[in-house]
Amino acid sequence: MSVKSIYPKKDLRGEITVPGDKSISHRSVMFGSIALGTTVITNFLNGADCLSTIDCFQRMGVKIVKKPDAVYVHGKGLRGLSAPAGTLNVGNSGTTTRLLAGILAGQSFSSVMSGDESLNQRPMGRIMTPLGRMGARISSIQDSDCAPLRIEPGDLHGIHYQSPVASAQVKSAVLLAGLYADGETCVTEPALSRNHTELMLSNFGADISSVIHEDGSASARISPCQELYAQEIQVPGDISSAAYFIAAGLLVPGSELLIRNVGTNPARAGILKVCQAMGADITCLNTRNMPAASGTSPLFGQTGEPTADILVRYSPLHGITIGKDLIPALIDEIPVIAVMAACAQGTTIIRDASELKVKETDRIATVTENLRAMGADVTPTEDGMIIEGGAPLKGAHINSYLDHRIAMAFSIAGLTAAGETVIENSQCVDISYPDFFQTLDCL
Ligand code: S3P
Repeated sequence: MSVKSIYPKKDLRGEITVPGDKSISHRSVMFGSIALGTTVITNFLNGADCLSTIDCFQRMGVKIVKKPDAVYVHGKGLRGLSAPAGTLNVGNSGTTTRLLAGILAGQSFSSVMSGDESLNQRPMGRIMTPLGRMGARISSIQDSDCAPLRIEPGDLHGIHYQSPVASAQVKSAVLLAGLYADGETCVTEPALSRNHTELMLSNFGADISSVIHEDGSASARISPCQELYAQEIQVPGDISSAAYFIAAGLLVPGSELLIRNVGTNPARAGILKVCQAMGADITCLNTRNMPAASGTSPLFGQTGEPTADILVRYSPLHGITIGKDLIPALIDEIPVIAVMAACAQGTTIIRDASELKVKETDRIATVTENLRAMGADVTPTEDGMIIEGGAPLKGAHINSYLDHRIAMAFSIAGLTAAGETVIENSQCVDISYPDFFQTLDCL
């Protein structure tokens, strides 16, 4: 078992960059694989999850070459994938599984996807239901809600799907299957989840549009399409990875950190709003628009992925309430937000976040257990947690349960805790941020 010891630090100062965005890296490989021509991806995230996506498409005959400057995906066109020999291994990656299911549903060959222990316990009914309604022949091999999944060829029809959850993975699975359907497909979700699929597919040439309704719900529609076309993609830094260093800069006295080139798509940037509401000294500098692909077709009036340099300075924080309007835009950041809340003065309430229970771990449980081990006052609830902040944290043994975001969030907690904090199974940071500890140790 890999372990990492963390000790308190002072005065974190300097400039860092964080690795490429995980969601955009996955999609670059997926859409590049089913497009015509060579998609060139710079700042691709070399995390284990995105490598699982590469491996799956290589097994379906796509030539993908990783060079020091970029990843080159030699696309096969919408109908050019070939039947994989053996099971597609999706590792720990929910994004690979759910988005790939939408693509596989439209193929003329059968396939099986399976992942690691955690992945094979995550709910897949949420994609099997809408894909099945479209005519896909997708089933759980163990007749459960979970992977391994078998997908057999079926004729797909366009549907209007009312998703019960704001989930970009569900939305994307349905939209991708919609590329292969016989009519228009539309997905409505209760709140806008990350919209990288919509932005990027639009630039790859798909006929896709989106709207946010007055009540906050959002719809995306797509028409079947003949072909997608290769793009050049500059992946912005991952705000979900930047979140750990934003928190470090805010919590460690005397700190001033500049985090360069971070994606600030509003559907992802809820952490920035939360920091401001908690009283943080945080500023976005040099805000620009990085094309998600080389095209410029506007969606929501957005033509690419907004990107900025983020400057944070140590700040005394206070507790706040975080509810449904913000949750989809910060769902992956809740473990580190909980750490910030434990260090803030007063009460923080996180609600409408029951999706936390179906992430790589049940993050309501794993955050509660580990914050309590460090001496924080946390009460788990059905859809979130209540944190009474302000008590000094003490070092503890942290069980990451192999969840990368738990390992990183509690490493940041360790920077402010008294004594030694030991992160167990620390190597799981490889999933989304292989150099996390190197960056942390350099500060
Ligand atoms: C992701 C969507 C989110 C997020 C995950 C990445 C994506 O999951 O938690 O880390 O790339 O589409 P849900 O769609 O389940 O909310």
